[in-house]
Amino acid sequence: MKKQTYEQTIKQIEALIDGVDNKTGALANVAAALKQAFSHYFWVGFYIVSGDHLELGPFQGPVACYTIMRGKGVCGAAWASRQTVIVPDVNLFAGHIACSAESRSEIVVPVFAGDDVVAVIDVDSTTARAFDIDDRNGLERVAKTISQLF
Ligand code: SME
Repeated sequence: MKKQTYEQTIKQIEALIDGVDNKTGALANVAAALKQAFSHYFWVGFYIVSGDHLELGPFQGPVACYTIMRGKGVCGAAWASRQTVIVPDVNLFAGHIACSAESRSEIVVPVFAGDDVVAVIDVDSTTARAFDIDDRNGLERVAKTISQLF
């Protein structure tokens, strides 16, 4: 079910960004498409690499922090390790940055342009253990799809 929804949403995302020369607008639409497709998403958005830190990009959900240093929080850990990080319970992740007290679990997926991490996709849920291998595979495909925007 979730797999199928990722399948459909990735097709939608491909169509949404095809030929679009507006990175901010395109990423905002990608966040909107994802948020609408998945009811277990509480917050979904992008943090963009800028020098030694990540900067808040387009998102859907409650207000979020602007800046995350490399290696800090779940987002900074995914950037530094160049790997997807799944946190089943944010209360058990040392260094988790709580933008909302309602977030209970999180997945962060790096976006590559060539060999460089240029952004991360961050998704929060209000439920513990909300993200699994289907989310990982789906969001890693989303990351590949949107890398053309960078
Ligand atoms: N929890 C993230 C910070 C970003 S918010 O979840 C939107 C982290 O620890 O990196």
